[in-house]
Amino acid sequence: MQIHKRPPASVLFIFGGSGDLNYRKLTPALYNLFLDDYMPEQFSIAGLGRSPYSDEDYRKHLLEGISKFSRRKGEQNGHWKDFSEHVNYLQMDAEDPVAYDKITEYVKEKEAEWGVHPTVIFYLAVAPQLVPNIATHLGNLNLCSDKHCTRIVVEKPFGHDLQSAHELNELLASKFTEEQIYRIDHYLGKETVQNILAFRFANALFEPVWNRNFIDFIQITAAESVGLEGRGGYYERSGALRDMVQNHILQILCMVGMEAPVSFDANEIRNKKVDVLNAIRRISPDKVHEYAVRGQYSAGWMKGQQVVGYREEKGVDPKSNTDTYAAVKFYIDNWRWQGVPFYVRTGKYMHQKATNIVIQFKEAPHYSFPAEAAQTWRPNRLTISIQPEMDIRIRFQAKRPGQTMTLDPVDMTFNYDAANGEHAPEAYETLLLDVMEGDATLFMRGDQVDAAWKVIMPILETWENRTPQDFPNYAPDSWGPDEADVLVARDGHSWINLPSK
Ligand code: BG6
Repeated sequence: MQIHKRPPASVLFIFGGSGDLNYRKLTPALYNLFLDDYMPEQFSIAGLGRSPYSDEDYRKHLLEGISKFSRRKGEQNGHWKDFSEHVNYLQMDAEDPVAYDKITEYVKEKEAEWGVHPTVIFYLAVAPQLVPNIATHLGNLNLCSDKHCTRIVVEKPFGHDLQSAHELNELLASKFTEEQIYRIDHYLGKETVQNILAFRFANALFEPVWNRNFIDFIQITAAESVGLEGRGGYYERSGALRDMVQNHILQILCMVGMEAPVSFDANEIRNKKVDVLNAIRRISPDKVHEYAVRGQYSAGWMKGQQVVGYREEKGVDPKSNTDTYAAVKFYIDNWRWQGVPFYVRTGKYMHQKATNIVIQFKEAPHYSFPAEAAQTWRPNRLTISIQPEMDIRIRFQAKRPGQTMTLDPVDMTFNYDAANGEHAPEAYETLLLDVMEGDATLFMRGDQVDAAWKVIMPILETWENRTPQDFPNYAPDSWGPDEADVLVARDGHSWINLPSK
């Protein structure tokens, strides 16, 4: 998160070069960086994969992805041609140690051509079970005596549970220094998520009331209107709690809950975030049902389309107990947040795609206003919409024009697109640029990943040991299981579904 200049000469190897993530996200992001003049003067991108492609066919395939998924589509007046000349395909079996010689040769070639030693980035956009072997082989390569020249980027899921995440961290640490490891959580690259820090710490207005004295409760929603999108094999072993809460939602919670950093140094920010994770109250197994609710979608209708239930999806066990919805109540036991519930929820096939944070302030005393005024009285509320809406709203009370003292809640809104007049960069653009620049602020440190697993392990273990009796328990196009409403209703609250445009 620094003022950007062009990064130094770089070679990027993308494992999973013929895969979906590269097709939909990584190449479009690199292409947009190129269009915005952020790519290094000298760079080369090598997609690695087992499928056979000539360079030409590979480039054609990537252009197709750009035409479907990039925020700027197609060839852009010949810029695609200039960009694609930097892209090659290396067919290799990542399980074969000898194949890694190709990487060494490739780097040497570029080094000779450019006359500088480039930064070498290995991006692991592969199935999680392949990560340990690839990382081991890469760790054995001797590409650069300066460790900072070589970086490894690991996609989520980072481990399957605390134990496996710990093992993966140990393995990476045996081959790379922590500074070389970039663990991606793509939510941290979203403009609206980064803006939480600017909003909180660059304004004198909000920080003084950002605590238990003024805030009643906080809700974080990451609702998706899509289903599995063909990822049954992966999702079956994951579920909503692992897929969204352990990483994306807990990261957002950290940004909302953290103390002010002393500086914008990567480690300082990550220290403050890990403090939040360490302060989250551990839920004991016998209390899990009071704090967490899981759900799984049935067959039904989604925006007029008939959809199958989770258990009928491809790659899913017909008796599966995997959660496609999770809601949890967290408490952060520290001076700032003691007693303030943080309700979080996420689910597939929700009524609306909406990721947002709602901060509900305590009620103001009503005494000075006539009794009728109280009927429309609402507490102040701050909402930060992360996607697809991108705005920040403050709800406050105003007098309704007229002869009586009637109060109405009104909204004051900051809208990203309206304010900036253009689309914000995609998360992967920001993150890939940061990797090339060597800025790890927006990446997860090993201890953060561990701490996040520690938070959710009691829930995961309890759910695994207890068969849900009511699955499937919510219909597509709904807001999840009724039990999730009960979770917040027990505290006298309800879920806040923001209206979509
Ligand atoms: C991924 C999850 O990390 O995030 C997916 O594995 C989910 O299941 C996706 O759909 C959501 O990302 P976004 O950016 O569309 O909110």
